[in-house]
Amino acid sequence: MSTRKRLSFNVKLNTTGDTITIHISDPSNLQADNLALATWGSSEVLANTLHRLPTPDFAGTGAIAGLGSVLELGAGTGLVGLSAAAIWRVWVTLTDLEPILPNIKANIELNRAVIRGYGGSAACGMLDWARPDLLTFFVPEHESQLTADASGEWKPWKFRVVLAADTVYSEEHPELLTKAVTARLERSPKARFIMCYPLRIGYLDHIRDLWERLELAGLGCMQEGRESLHEEWDEDTPYEWCVWRWRGDI
Ligand SMILES: C[S@@+](CC[C@H](N)C(=O)[O-])C[C@H]1O[C@@H](n2cnc3c(N)ncnc32)[C@H](O)[C@@H]1O
Repeated sequence: MSTRKRLSFNVKLNTTGDTITIHISDPSNLQADNLALATWGSSEVLANTLHRLPTPDFAGTGAIAGLGSVLELGAGTGLVGLSAAAIWRVWVTLTDLEPILPNIKANIELNRAVIRGYGGSAACGMLDWARPDLLTFFVPEHESQLTADASGEWKPWKFRVVLAADTVYSEEHPELLTKAVTARLERSPKARFIMCYPLRIGYLDHIRDLWERLELAGLGCMQEGRESLHEEWDEDTPYEWCVWRWRGDI
């Protein structure tokens, strides 16, 4: 079985060696785009890097019930978001395009009890990077487009932390991702955008473009690193992760 179709992943919880096993449902039972039903190397790298990063300051977040403080964009099978929920003990909202959501929901259910044991929680919703102001919850009891706040004003909910793994693989993605991040990342010095991508030759221009756009939008990279996947993946490509925050007075 290819590693991308693996059905469980051990993720490091801390630097003392504790791990959590995240289970992924068998995608062959669901009909959707295969690309998103695989788990990509960036997800495993980022999930296993989170415990080494300074824990984001979540104080004062989560004011709207059920939305939490962490958003994952292009979650795919949800490995990163589910790991973040356990590592940081927070509520994470995993988002992707509509056809991918049944699989994400299945993965949330598979891992709900163990994540809850760590004090975390997860929900999923539809968020297309082309329309980031619309976030539609998939779970019926949370179904809402969140188009307005209590005063009726158009004000999409913003998240303290936004995560994205392997979401830069076409020339439209830098513009779309910048739009999604700037629409959904809280405007505060505590806010962080954390992403990971493979450094494949064919993607380097898109990654450069994304960095330029994020900088133009007012974000600055504060931490970055490179990792390789373990042998099981049979892949030499290096992976880069980076942490961004808003620059200057916000
Ligand atoms: C290569 S997969 C990565 C999935 C997962 N993050 C991982 O690393 O395993 C890219 C993901 O981005 C999602 N995606 C692509 N375009 C999107 C868009 N315009 N809006 C939201 N999600 C999108 C795809 O559906 C897919 O789940």
